[in-house]
Amino acid sequence: MDLHHKTQPQKPPHFFIQPFTNNNNNFTYALIFFISLLIITTIVFCNFISPFYPHLLPFSLSKTLPNTQTQQSTNTCDYSYGKWVFDESYPTRKYDEDCPFLDPGFRCRRNGRPDIGYVKWRWQPHGCDLPRFDARDFLERSRNGRIVFAGDSIGRNQWESLLCMLSHGVTNLSTIYEENGNPITKHKGFLSIRFHDYNLTIQYYRVPFLVVIDDPPENASEDVQRAIRVDKLHWFSLKWAGADVLVFSAGHWWNHDKTLKMGWYFQEEEKLNMKMDVMEAFGKSLQTLKTWAYESCDPKTSHIFFRSYSPVHYRDGEWNTGGHCDRSKSPETNYTNSETEPLNNKIISNVVKEMQTTKRKVNFLNITYLTTMRRDGHPSRYREPGTSQRAPQDCSHWCLPGVPDIWNELLYAQLLSTGFRVK
Ligand SMILES: *[C@@H]1O[C@H](CO)[C@@H](O)[C@H](O)[C@H]1NC(C)=O
Ligand SMILES: *[C@@H]1O[C@H](CO)[C@@H](O)[C@H](O)[C@H]1NC(C)=O
Ligand SMILES: *[C@@H]1O[C@H](CO)[C@@H](O)[C@H](O)[C@H]1NC(C)=O
Ligand SMILES: *[C@@H]1O[C@H](CO)[C@@H](O)[C@H](O)[C@H]1NC(C)=O
Ligand SMILES: *[C@@H]1O[C@H](CO)[C@@H](O)[C@H](O)[C@H]1NC(C)=O
Repeated sequence: MDLHHKTQPQKPPHFFIQPFTNNNNNFTYALIFFISLLIITTIVFCNFISPFYPHLLPFSLSKTLPNTQTQQSTNTCDYSYGKWVFDESYPTRKYDEDCPFLDPGFRCRRNGRPDIGYVKWRWQPHGCDLPRFDARDFLERSRNGRIVFAGDSIGRNQWESLLCMLSHGVTNLSTIYEENGNPITKHKGFLSIRFHDYNLTIQYYRVPFLVVIDDPPENASEDVQRAIRVDKLHWFSLKWAGADVLVFSAGHWWNHDKTLKMGWYFQEEEKLNMKMDVMEAFGKSLQTLKTWAYESCDPKTSHIFFRSYSPVHYRDGEWNTGGHCDRSKSPETNYTNSETEPLNNKIISNVVKEMQTTKRKVNFLNITYLTTMRRDGHPSRYREPGTSQRAPQDCSHWCLPGVPDIWNELLYAQLLSTGFRVK
């Protein structure tokens, strides 16, 4: 990730260093010096205690001085770039399909998938290693904490993967349960799994757009089915406040087909904006999320992640026009990335950069490139029991165990690098 280096520190104000012409008035000199010092100290102090409310300050140091924290991070490993390595021993370090937290739709072998190679690939970043996923260590660091996944169903896919990766480190599975006794299914909007022995909850909130989906305003034209209110975060956000780790996943629903084409238009305040395009609306909704985070998350203890776009792999058609992916048995081997960076990712990573300038613990979980190679990792036609043979293939979600496990290895690695531990 390249950052905007503003390496040129601002020159101190002139009055501070310029020799005074009136040499014989030592008292004035001392007084001015003292007052200047007081002003500077106040500014530094205010920035130190509340760098997260820059709007309260006349001006902010974080804007005028280079941000050493983000500069350092350019020296740390970039896990997003590397290659897939076949490793027979990789599955033995992981959970299997018996994990009780798996959605039936992600248990691909049980649903008849004959090839098993897709679980044997590990991700090897270029120039460094991923730390080995240590479930007990992750659990211990998260003790008394709360981890929230909010977003679309790809986020649920990742949430289930993390539940299984962590429960692999627990001997008595009965000590892990859904707090309200709900079964893990895609039909629930909210699920909360408790790791009793660690006093830890790991939650999933289904909010494909993150913002509110509403009835259209009274005077809207008849073409308008729903209003996506880009300046109003879903009410679930009240429950996200105070979480120790937040992982947002959005992007899959922010396309023409799932919005404007269905008559879902964008609304700001009380007004529908029939001209607003999908990416502009996506950017605005992330700004809404940013504002919420500034108001509701503790800058010192909340670790916020925005996961990048998870690519789909439909061949010979789209999901609804006979596209398929069941013939792919191994990852793409041509590492020349022919895919252009999705615009979603640029929008997400820009919001992350904006938030990082306020010294928050905000991360871009960039999984797009590594995931692009994994055309073999989807359920394809091995979907949940009872699915008609003529139903479309699933080339957007992921078999578990599988690719989202690696996203969670990256999540763990990025948490480790910031010294994550619930206080
Ligand atoms: C995500 O990672 C890939 C691979 O390293 C890189 O090419 C891409 O630019 C990154 N995306 C962003 C928005 O940083
Ligand atoms: C469990 O964690 C909560 C914070 O999430 C804390 O308030 C509570 O005291 C903890 N309970 C125990 C038994 O440690
Ligand atoms: C496992 O945990 C459950 C629930 O706390 C408990 O009732 C059961 O006795 C435990 N089993 C073992 C073998 O410790
Ligand atoms: C609909 O009502 C809003 C709020 O009263 C108003 O600002 C807007 O111009 C109206 N739109 C149309 C198309 O009449
Ligand atoms: C790899 O992909 C690139 C970009 O799509 C293409 O130009 C190149 O010919 C491919 N290489 C091979 C060996 O297929």
